[in-house]
Amino acid sequence: MGKIEIIQGDITKQAVDAIVNAANCSLLGGGGVDGAIHRAAGPELLAECRTLHGCETGKAKITKGYRLPAKHVIHTPGPVWHGGGRGEDELLASCYRSCLELAAANGCKTVDFPSISTGVYHFPLDRASRIAVREIDAFLKEHPEIERVRMVCFDGRTKASYEEALSEL
Ligand code: APR
Repeated sequence: MGKIEIIQGDITKQAVDAIVNAANCSLLGGGGVDGAIHRAAGPELLAECRTLHGCETGKAKITKGYRLPAKHVIHTPGPVWHGGGRGEDELLASCYRSCLELAAANGCKTVDFPSISTGVYHFPLDRASRIAVREIDAFLKEHPEIERVRMVCFDGRTKASYEEALSEL
């Protein structure tokens, strides 16, 4: 079974088969990690995204990585946190599953995720990290073709939350 790792770093610097972008439904870029990925990938990424005509929350779409060291970018709009009563947990879980399904379908063996929805979308970090780690673990059990999934955390607090979630598995 492939392994889950938690690291602190900048996802735009990772030379892996696929990095995941915490996008919005337009797929036309934004701030946060979305902005960083588009800046690093260059304008061809936006050009390809324009051909995708958006993406529903919880679903995912794949593009090339262009100037990024990663081969592919898998774009997924996470849920905006509204207090937990609008299916946010299930939508976040669906983001991780959809991205991993797309990664496996495209032969990606190494996949890096940012902490989806825990920035601008205000999803509570410790709740999100438990959902993420649970979904990744369940998927890897069924898909040995994926060799490694990493959570690439941008700050120490985020890293600590994912490390704790992993230790509770
Ligand atoms: N590498 C890794 N993680 C990063 C990076 C980076 N270069 N830059 C930011 N992050 C982290 C943030 O610190 C946070 O932990 O990514 C996590 C997700 O935060 P956001 O980027 O704000 O994403 P999200 O909360 O899902 O909100 C998505 O923000 O940028 C817009 O277009 C995007 O509308 C969408 C919304």
